[in-house]
Amino acid sequence: MTKTKKSNLFGLSGSVKDQLAQKMLEKRLKKVTEAQMNKDDVVRSRKSLSFNSKVPDDFCRFDKFPGYQQIRILETGGKQLGVASPFFKTHEGVARNTTQISGQNYINFASYNYLDLCGHPDVSKAAKDAIDQYGTSASASRPVAGERPIQRDLEHAIAKLYDVDDAIVFVSGHATNVTTIGYLFGPKDLILHDSLIHNSIVQGGQLSGATRLPFPHNDWQALDEILFQQRKKYERVLIVIEGIYSMDGDYPDLKRFIEIKQRHKAFLMVDEAHALGVLGDKGHGIKEHAGVDGHEVDIWMGTLSKTLASCGGYIAGEKALVEHLKFSAPGFLYSVGIAPPVAAAALAALTILDKEPERVQSLKERGHQFLALAQDKGLNVGSSAGLSVIPVITGSSAMAGRLANSCFARGINVQPIFYPAVQEGMARLRFFICSSHTEEQIEQTVTILVEEMNKLK
Ligand SMILES: Cc1ncc(COP(=O)(O)O)c(C=O)c1O
Repeated sequence: MTKTKKSNLFGLSGSVKDQLAQKMLEKRLKKVTEAQMNKDDVVRSRKSLSFNSKVPDDFCRFDKFPGYQQIRILETGGKQLGVASPFFKTHEGVARNTTQISGQNYINFASYNYLDLCGHPDVSKAAKDAIDQYGTSASASRPVAGERPIQRDLEHAIAKLYDVDDAIVFVSGHATNVTTIGYLFGPKDLILHDSLIHNSIVQGGQLSGATRLPFPHNDWQALDEILFQQRKKYERVLIVIEGIYSMDGDYPDLKRFIEIKQRHKAFLMVDEAHALGVLGDKGHGIKEHAGVDGHEVDIWMGTLSKTLASCGGYIAGEKALVEHLKFSAPGFLYSVGIAPPVAAAALAALTILDKEPERVQSLKERGHQFLALAQDKGLNVGSSAGLSVIPVITGSSAMAGRLANSCFARGINVQPIFYPAVQEGMARLRFFICSSHTEEQIEQTVTILVEEMNKLK
C-alpha cells in the first residue's frame, strides 16, 4: 500500500500547513515585540539587524582578539625555534631555595619567597589556627559583613612598620594599586611615574583618567624638570616610584624624590613590593634604608605575596588617606575582606621578620654574591643592586627562552621575561634570591648559566 499525504480541509499537506503556521506565528511575534518597543527602538533594531550581517568575525569571536593571536604567534614561533614553553610549571611542594617539579629537584629562582617564610612552620600554623577560628573566608566586604580581629591586627602592624597613622589591606597587590590610584585621582590630575614602574600602577593611572607621564628610570632631575613645566596645569599630582624595581632590582634615591615632591606640592607613592624584607638592616624597606620618616612619603604601598608569604596588598599612611579608602575605594568596598588565614600568615611573617633580621642579612649576602660572580663572568646584570632581584639580560626573547630551558635541564628553575613585561630587546632571566640559598647553590648556578650561555651563542 502506498502512503498518501494527509490533506486537510483546504487540501494542504501537514508540513506545508506547519510552515504557514510558523510564518504566521513569527509575524505575530514580531508585531507584538515591535508594539512593545518605541519607534526609535524599532528603527535601531532594524538597523542593527542589517548591520549585524556585516559585523566581521574579528569583533565577535574570542579567537580573533589581537592579544590572543599574539599568544598563538608566540607559541608557534617558540615551537619553530625549538623553545619549549617555560610557563605554568607545576610545583609539588613549597617553592623556596629549592623546589620539586615533575618529581625532580631544582635550585629555585622563580619564586619571591625572599625570606623563606612561605612554608615556615609558624606562618603555616598561624594560617591553620585562623581557619579553625574563623573559617577560610571573610565571606563579604568588611564594611558590610564586619571585621575579624586578625585583619585589623595586620593593619596595625603594617602601620607600625612605617610609623604612620594606619593601614588598609586589600585582597590583591595588583588590585591595591589599581583601585587606590584609580579611585583617588581624576581627569584634572597628573600622575608621574618611573618609566619602569609596575603594570598595576599604569592600570590604576589609566582607570583614574588622569594625565599619565613616565619619567626616565630613577631620574629625579628629569622628574623635577617635568614638574617645573607641568605642575601648574593640574590640580593634584602623584609621583609613583618603587622601593626596589621588580624587573631590574635597583632602587631610587628616596630623599631626592621626597625633596622634589615637597617643593612641587605633589603626593609621593612608593611601591614596596620587592623592598620590604630586603632593604634596611631590619628589612623594613626603603624607609629604613634611606633613613626617612614614615610621614615623608604620602602613600606606602606593598604586597603580602612576597616577603610576607601570603596574598594581598596594603596601603599605609595618614588617617585621612586610609579612612577615605576604607569607606570608598571600590576595590575595598565592593570586594571581599582579606581571608582570615591569609591575614594571619602575613602577620606571622611580619613577626618573624622583626625577630630574625639575620634572614635579611643572609638574603643580602647571597644577592651580593650572585651579582659579583655574574659581573665577574661578564654577564649583563643591568643596574641591579644585587638584593632580591637580579636580571641576566639576554636581549632576544628566543635567547632568554632557550637559556631558561637549558638551565632547567641542568636543575635550575628560573623564569625568562619577555616583551611586553620588559622593553623589546631587553628580554632576560630574572633571578629572585631567597635567604636560604646557599653559597654553593649560587656558585653552581652562575657556573651553569655561563656554560649554557656560551653553548647557545
Ligand atoms: C612592584 C609590584 N607592585 C605590585 C605587584 C602586584 O602584587 P601581587 O602579585 O601581590 O598582586 C607586583 C607583583 O609582582 C609588583 O612587582
